[in-house]
Amino acid sequence: MGKMASEAFFVVVVVAAAAAVVLANALPVRSERGGVEKDEVNIWPMPAWVSHGRGHLYMSNDFVLSTEGSGYGDASGILKDAFHRMLAVIKLDHVVDANFSALHDQPLLQGLRIVISSPKDQLQYGIDESYKLMVPSPEKPAYAHLVAPTVYGALHGLQTFSQLCHFNFTSRVIKVHMSPWTIIDQPRFSYRGLLIATSKMKDGIAVKLPIFMDTSRHYLPLPVIRKVIDSMTYAKLNVLHWHIVDTESFPLEIPSYPKLWNGAYSTSEQYSVADAAEIVSFAQKRGINVLAEIDVPGHALSWGTGYPSLWPSKDCQQPLDVSNEFTFKVIDGILSDFSKIFKFKFVHLGGDEVDTSCWTTTPHISKWLKKNGMNESQAYQYFVLRAQNLALSHGYEIVNWEETFNNFGNKLSRKTVVHNWLGGGVAQQVVASGLRCIVSNQDKWYLDHLDTTWQEFYANEPLTNITNLKQQKLVIGGEVCMWGERIDGSDIEQTIWPRAAAAAERLWTPYDELAKDPRQVTGRLAHFRCLLNQRGVAAAPLAGQGRAAPEANRGCFW
Ligand SMILES: *[C@@H]1O[C@H](CO)[C@@H](O)[C@H](O)[C@H]1NC(C)=O
Ligand SMILES: *[C@@H]1O[C@H](CO)[C@@H](O)[C@H](O)[C@H]1NC(C)=O
Ligand SMILES: *[C@@H]1O[C@H](CO)[C@@H](O)[C@H](O)[C@H]1NC(C)=O
Ligand SMILES: *[C@@H]1O[C@H](CO)[C@@H](O)[C@H](O)[C@H]1NC(C)=O
Repeated sequence: MGKMASEAFFVVVVVAAAAAVVLANALPVRSERGGVEKDEVNIWPMPAWVSHGRGHLYMSNDFVLSTEGSGYGDASGILKDAFHRMLAVIKLDHVVDANFSALHDQPLLQGLRIVISSPKDQLQYGIDESYKLMVPSPEKPAYAHLVAPTVYGALHGLQTFSQLCHFNFTSRVIKVHMSPWTIIDQPRFSYRGLLIATSKMKDGIAVKLPIFMDTSRHYLPLPVIRKVIDSMTYAKLNVLHWHIVDTESFPLEIPSYPKLWNGAYSTSEQYSVADAAEIVSFAQKRGINVLAEIDVPGHALSWGTGYPSLWPSKDCQQPLDVSNEFTFKVIDGILSDFSKIFKFKFVHLGGDEVDTSCWTTTPHISKWLKKNGMNESQAYQYFVLRAQNLALSHGYEIVNWEETFNNFGNKLSRKTVVHNWLGGGVAQQVVASGLRCIVSNQDKWYLDHLDTTWQEFYANEPLTNITNLKQQKLVIGGEVCMWGERIDGSDIEQTIWPRAAAAAERLWTPYDELAKDPRQVTGRLAHFRCLLNQRGVAAAPLAGQGRAAPEANRGCFW
């Protein structure tokens, strides 16, 4: 359940913090649940360990980034860009027109010194995302300090720092309140995901309906995706699960099989390879991995628009034709093209909601089944395992939706991560079998279920009923899912936020620091959602259903 920060460092920092506290003559306040809420520490998600004082500091108008002593060279500019983004979200576009010479006797914070040990900036699953942040007491302001093993830990530290600051209208300067601060932090789970779907609707019922061709609802324009990625960093989420293609449309260019793209809704609603690569790079610079998905064989009707032989027949169009070698050639080609863009360790192969009736009713397939001595459920297994082998051959480990596990869990590659969605209790079985699991149970973590409240998102514990320590480690994290039935660029942000933030704290904050009753964190989450609004993110109010409208005539903060 998440290790504490390294013991040795912990001791040093606590001693240093104690010294600073004596100097500042300020009262340290240990981060304790309830205590924190009373103390108005408005950081979301709550860090693993916090102490703070009662002083305040002004930020110098030329607040600088110093990397003296850092082992990280920042050739790619990740840190420098993140620092400037942080300054921008702290300023919130206000004009800082303070008279700094009138402030000469006030404690001014000159900059932030960031020391990163690792010279590398390769982002991968399981990298060290921890950081330590120290803001000095008003008596000795000079520099704040951020220490992190990797640049990606430092990015989280910058996000936390941004939440300690606000623009003060009296002095017209940015103020850091409640100094000195010492924050020691790291995530509880290494996989903290958000799914976006750029082609489809999905929910348990949808599949049972006849094929349904929506015309344009679900494409997400690139600026919308970028904005979602930026907002994810505020809540320290670190995986964007991109459900790119599905039954309804195939918006992504695949150079190996260029006619797949014919399955896009329209000639405007497409992503080129360069677009996808740009999204991956944009996300990576923000510490976010992109998990690409093709959902085979059940959610792939749109593939046949360009290559009709992938359909069982013109009248029965999915799942993909299991009897056709071309089907697996195309999957191989897609995964080969993917491997050049999507560098995350995992690829998602779907595998959910496979209705095999087109296989049994289409003569050439049913003949093939007989010839190979398979019934339809064995053919489903054959398909999924063959797709898994293709993914492995391109260097990926695999994520598959839970039906694959429920039907033939002991046959899956040991490199499979089972993605739970149907309900609770699945993670328990998955990890008992020795496989890894991502938790997304639809009754609690599906954002398109507007009647699921933020309190339910908050209270959904991925390790429910898993007591064995080894098995707990196999739950690599969780993901909230933003399926696209009624979502496009007009309403995606308020459907994601603030409920995704509630799950983000569940996935980040140490178990013992989480509120047992979500009501305890209402004020802090409400504050965070106002902060999102101030940063230009259309986060909905907490009260009411998902993406509720605000109450009449009141301020955001209260
Ligand atoms: C700025 O503050 C200084 C020192 O208090 C004062 O002399 C000066 O007039 C102020 N400038 C403006 C533009 O208010
Ligand atoms: C802004 O600064 C003034 C003067 O330092 C202080 O009295 C006031 O409480 C501050 N306002 C906020 C909202 O912190
Ligand atoms: C397919 O065959 C397997 C093995 O004989 C059997 O367990 C399973 O029930 C069969 N499934 C169907 C749908 O007939
Ligand atoms: C956890 O175990 C309890 C007691 O056996 C059971 O009632 C509950 O449904 C389980 N929860 C999940 C999510 O499996």
